[in-house]
Amino acid sequence: MNLFIQISYKLFLLLSFTQCIGCENVPELAENADKFDFEQACPDADDIYPCECIFNDWNNTMNLNCTMVEGEDELAQVFASLPSLNFDSLVMSENRNVKILKAGVFGNVTFKELSFTLGVLEEVEAGALDGSMNTATTIEFDANDISIFPFETIEGFTNLRYLSLEKNSIAVFPRISSQSLNYLSLIWNPTGNFPADAFENLPSLIIVELGLSDVVSIEAGAFSNLSELYELGLEFNLLSHIPAGAFATSSANLDEIYINNNRIEEVEPNAFQAVNGMRIYLSDNKLTLLKEEVWRPLVEANVHLGLYGNPLECGCDLAWLVLEPELMHQVFANSQCADGVLLHDLDPGIFEDC
Ligand SMILES: *[C@@H]1O[C@H](CO)[C@@H](O)[C@H](O)[C@H]1NC(C)=O
Ligand SMILES: *[C@@H]1O[C@H](CO)[C@@H](O)[C@H](O)[C@H]1NC(C)=O
Ligand SMILES: *[C@@H]1O[C@H](CO)[C@@H](O)[C@H](O)[C@H]1NC(C)=O
Ligand SMILES: *[C@@H]1O[C@H](CO)[C@@H](O)[C@H](O)[C@H]1NC(C)=O
Repeated sequence: MNLFIQISYKLFLLLSFTQCIGCENVPELAENADKFDFEQACPDADDIYPCECIFNDWNNTMNLNCTMVEGEDELAQVFASLPSLNFDSLVMSENRNVKILKAGVFGNVTFKELSFTLGVLEEVEAGALDGSMNTATTIEFDANDISIFPFETIEGFTNLRYLSLEKNSIAVFPRISSQSLNYLSLIWNPTGNFPADAFENLPSLIIVELGLSDVVSIEAGAFSNLSELYELGLEFNLLSHIPAGAFATSSANLDEIYINNNRIEEVEPNAFQAVNGMRIYLSDNKLTLLKEEVWRPLVEANVHLGLYGNPLECGCDLAWLVLEPELMHQVFANSQCADGVLLHDLDPGIFEDC
């Protein structure tokens, strides 16, 4: 380690601080300066070409960008000669050449965040990411054409929190187990329905995104093991009938359920389990009636309903709601009847004879 450089660096930081009057993160920077490790630096540019390594001395991270690789073989060559380095991130974005990530492609190199987006990947082989099993926190493969992905290996990624494969070609809902995963997105894949036990072994999920994925129906209890769930997205699917227990979870934090832009005509009582303050986005569906037995227990428990864009008849089925302003208050202001009249503008007098 070069002591002179280290001292100069600290002096440089010190001088910077004197110009940073009122700068709130000074103590944090000073701490980082002490921890700065001059042996942790990028490999020679020639050794990793056409990948690029960027050492970020602001947060002391070493980041690799392999966007420019011309194919699978070239990618493998870059890593074949590298020793066991630990990068913070690997990015490949808008690459038009790499279709398969092969097992062992990254050699002995590990990453915390892996991001392959807007590319032409079709397959990620089992073993391609295994070198990062203990390090990976984020794995992102959005906007490729992936139909084969080693979901069965995810369980071994013990620090993985974020897994996103939006807009790919995954045709069957995958079986995934993970104790650590907080975020799962499979938006815009032709996965279709998921089995009743699809989320049984994903106890740490906080956000689940399954919009635009051809879901036709949900089985009762499908989400019942999710005790940390905060947000559930099933917008732009093909749901028409919501059975009792469909959205029951074991979470006291559930805040948002997105089932807008489906074909929902019928909701059974107890389809949802009320959580104080929860919002259910039901806009652009095919609801004609708001049955008291279905919705009263929810709005009474401070659940909010978004009902814009439904062909609501606004007949006597609504009397229970229109006659109790504090319940009507739970309905989003833009919710309308089929004829365009806002629910909030309905005249209670008309409903008194119901
Ligand atoms: C480090 O900073 C860069 C640039 O601000 C940012 O993109 C990256 O996410 C940061 N990495 C970590 C691990 O905080
Ligand atoms: C990665 O490299 C490509 C090509 O040089 C560049 O366009 C892109 O902005 C880089 N991405 C990041 C996150 O550095
Ligand atoms: C990678 O690790 C294996 C097992 O430790 C070792 O045999 C191999 O030589 C390493 N490869 C490189 C390029 O360092
Ligand atoms: C899921 O929840 C059910 C019922 O609460 C419970 O019997 C089961 O053990 C849970 N499964 C897992 C994998 O936690």
